[in-house]
Amino acid sequence: MSEPLELIEKLERTHSLSLAEYEALLRNRSEALSAELRARADRVRKAVYGNAVFTRGLVEISSFCKNDCLYCGIRRSNGQAERYRLTPEDILVCCREGWELGFRTFVLQGGEDPWFSDERLCPLLRQIKAEFPACAVTLSLGERSRESYQRLFDAGADRYLLRHETADPDHYRALHPPELSWEHRMECLRELKEIGYQVGCGFMVGSPGQTEKELAKELKFVETFRPAMCGIGPFIPHKDTPFRNQPAGSVDLTCYLLSILRLIQPNLLLPATTALGTLDPLGREKGILAGANVVMPNLSPVEVRKKYMLYDNKICTGEESAQCRGCLAARVASIGYELVTDRGDPASPA
Ligand code: 5AD
Ligand code: FES
Repeated sequence: MSEPLELIEKLERTHSLSLAEYEALLRNRSEALSAELRARADRVRKAVYGNAVFTRGLVEISSFCKNDCLYCGIRRSNGQAERYRLTPEDILVCCREGWELGFRTFVLQGGEDPWFSDERLCPLLRQIKAEFPACAVTLSLGERSRESYQRLFDAGADRYLLRHETADPDHYRALHPPELSWEHRMECLRELKEIGYQVGCGFMVGSPGQTEKELAKELKFVETFRPAMCGIGPFIPHKDTPFRNQPAGSVDLTCYLLSILRLIQPNLLLPATTALGTLDPLGREKGILAGANVVMPNLSPVEVRKKYMLYDNKICTGEESAQCRGCLAARVASIGYELVTDRGDPASPA
């Protein structure tokens, strides 16, 4: 097996490593290697995107969810969770405010809430696109049928975020109830890509049962699936879930992975997630410095923010949208990058 530094050089040159090599890179993580990866990831990102950081306005449209993922605070068995759903008009109001603030991408995210049928979503998508033809709309509404994905795409949705959660079927079973299947999740991701969406996958870092072996599979999956975006953030336990007593994931490991992902796919859109900012006040800045180039501040109405609690102590739940935008612009500028007003499509591969 090559030395870790040789692995990094090989990764930057070929954008690929074997599973065993990814695992070795993860097992040998040190401050020196993190710094080496960070420097290379930053160089690669600057060559593709310069110092631009893209922003997406996140609208959390519903905290109802029919699923029961063991890690998630809005799982259906959590009787303590407060439930709400925004109306299409509420969502439009958020988009209007977001447009004024400079957002050119709106992400409609929610639990798997059957109220949001195609019949309700399609007219809303058409209305958003009619009012803001220059925006991109991203959906993050979980698993749906291929027909539904197609209808939503035809109504104007450009992108779909569906974290694969884990590339390992056994690990998937350890994080989900038996009625959810890894195979179906993967099928959804393939269908979304075939339909023509810009697809985002992703996984949590430090979820229960995850070792370097599983993480190596995540990296290999991203390398071969070639998503437009990959969302990764530390797992953070939620007090009303079966994983309440599990340790949270690590900010440093998340940053290490962000750098590796940047070298795997130089044009990958990589968010510095809210979970990073929740575990560490400078977590999102650290993520950007490690290679991330997207931030997703919250555009949801302030009244509902505390009800979309996937994990404990989530940040920005009391802020107005403009405060988050301004706060992020200042944070991004403080480390030498620039929050831009742009749809933020993936750069075409070099
Ligand atoms: N900690 C961190 N991330 C979580 N997610 C859900 N629950 C948690 C948690 N406890 C992530 C999942 C999901 C995304 C919307 O949020 O990866 O796909
Ligand atoms: Fe929300 Fe800083 S990003 S207040």
